[in-house]
Amino acid sequence: MCGIVGYIGSRDAFPILIKGLKRLEYRGYDSAGVALLSESNHLNVYKVKGKVSGLEESVQKEDISGTIGIAHTRWATHGEPSKINAHPHVSASGKLALIHNGIIENYNVLKERLQQKGYSFTSSTDTEVLVQLIDYMKESGKLDLLTAVRLALREVVGAYALAIIDYTNPDEVIVARKSSPLVIGIGENEFFIASDATPIVEYTDKVVYLEDEDIAILKRGEPLKVIDFSNEELNLEVQTIELNLGQLEKGGYPHFMLKEIFEQPDCLRDCMRGRLRVEENEVILSAVMDHKDKLLEAKRIIIVACGTSWHAALIGRQLIEHYCRIPVQVEYASEFRYSNPVVGGGDIVISISQSGETADTLAAVELARQRGAFIYGICNAVGSSIPRNTHTGSYIHVGPEIGVASTKAFTGQVTVLAMLALTLAKVKGTVKPEELQEILKEFETIPEKMKKALETNEQIASLSKTFTYASNFIYLGRGYNYPVALEGALKLKEISYIHAEGYPAAEMKHGPIALIDTEMPVVVIATHNSLYEKLLSNVQEIKARKGKVIALVSEGDETISKIADYCIELPKTVEALDPLITTIPLQLMAYHIAVCKGKDVDQPRNLAKSVTVE
Ligand code: G6P
Repeated sequence: MCGIVGYIGSRDAFPILIKGLKRLEYRGYDSAGVALLSESNHLNVYKVKGKVSGLEESVQKEDISGTIGIAHTRWATHGEPSKINAHPHVSASGKLALIHNGIIENYNVLKERLQQKGYSFTSSTDTEVLVQLIDYMKESGKLDLLTAVRLALREVVGAYALAIIDYTNPDEVIVARKSSPLVIGIGENEFFIASDATPIVEYTDKVVYLEDEDIAILKRGEPLKVIDFSNEELNLEVQTIELNLGQLEKGGYPHFMLKEIFEQPDCLRDCMRGRLRVEENEVILSAVMDHKDKLLEAKRIIIVACGTSWHAALIGRQLIEHYCRIPVQVEYASEFRYSNPVVGGGDIVISISQSGETADTLAAVELARQRGAFIYGICNAVGSSIPRNTHTGSYIHVGPEIGVASTKAFTGQVTVLAMLALTLAKVKGTVKPEELQEILKEFETIPEKMKKALETNEQIASLSKTFTYASNFIYLGRGYNYPVALEGALKLKEISYIHAEGYPAAEMKHGPIALIDTEMPVVVIATHNSLYEKLLSNVQEIKARKGKVIALVSEGDETISKIADYCIELPKTVEALDPLITTIPLQLMAYHIAVCKGKDVDQPRNLAKSVTVE
């Protein structure tokens, strides 16, 4: 994972780098560092264990001058989080400083070779091997930096987005990418480098996304140049991005996560805009319409995803199977890629990813594509690797999600999956016009109903205080709300560090019921739907064993609300869209419990938002 930033131009680099790192901290935050070529042409490298704010404080008395620099915020893969293992890493000659996001898989072989040549290593990272390899190529072959990087990368197996500077040449930054994202911002006589566009939008909207095995040369006073490993110059595709700064700030909320939870009604409106046409009784996802023949031919659909996106996929399966009558298989991307899957021509693979950069999801897509499947991406981050590596797809358009625990991306993904199912169902004729009209009318009201669901915030904040004692939680749901139970449990685990399990309610009696005692909080999603009576029995089973039931019920519920210890009333909607409502209180509950416990909600320990390593 990790976030990387770089700058070369005429402004002071340090403030730009620090601001950029803060925007990228969602990618990892266990250590941070910066390298600057100072006005007096020194290579100054500063590193700390911990967050970017710590780095900023630690350099107050240091020389932070310079108009060229690179910086890094880390999520440890090789080597524990520590100052020594933090990036940038400096080469043995003392001339080069390098930052890297990714994993060098053959670092051991390279390290041994370099040790034989007399190189020694201070850190336990794979990145230090990379900088020494480039140093070795450069010094032993008397090469310029670009050639040394190009030749070194030919020997490297693995993933990287890297930037390297050389104090003997203060007018140049070399960057390269393979399987880890890298964006270059083009300003007036200046360049910006970052893992995604968020650190760049403040300065320019012109960007170039590097492709695999691209090497870019950022030189003062010269246009951007990109070459491949054989030194062939490549054509540049300069894109204009449409991110605004307001979307990247907290906007008065104490945490990004809370802001993002509250943004959901507006986000879903953006997601549905122009696509949901209630009066015409249709939904138009252009990617589905453009490829309807392929989709209509599909004998089955496989959805690959990780984490929260995988939970959205489980809801997607039910939606597509119900409305389109096409069998759907949901796979963890990380398992799929190594399972020698039966996949090929005639299969549709839908990959779901908020970031568009999850390494396992990308690898699953690549594998399925090689075997001839047609790939449809559902993604949030515009211009990221998933949309660029799929045959077609739909953006969820919920804006940048900064909080590490995914919230609005989940409801955006479910919304797109529902629209996909309904678009295809209409084309396929597997949904009756009256049924379509009913769900579309309901769909339109979802943002308002979400707002009502958000009104439970204060009730949930006070209820959450009661449960900070808990070390375990169970979440139960059925049908469309079973994946919501999984997602509720995941949210709690991620940010409050309380162990939680999501389970299909009826399965409880095959195991988890043994865990229930007076201490065990059990969240039951029991809104009015076809399985309500069954859920009622499940609630009774828990109460009979003195568990503490927190029930999500529909407004006006008179049965479960009488038995449960705590009741959260939610607006009613149709079964297929219920997850868009029932998810909200579970997000709020995880948030408030974590806040009560004093946890770092936006940057929980050990996690990162964009998992670009497998
Ligand atoms: C990480 C994040 C999760 C996310 C998962 C998949 O684990 O912390 O919030 O659901 O990656 O990410 P993606 O960007 O592919 O949806």
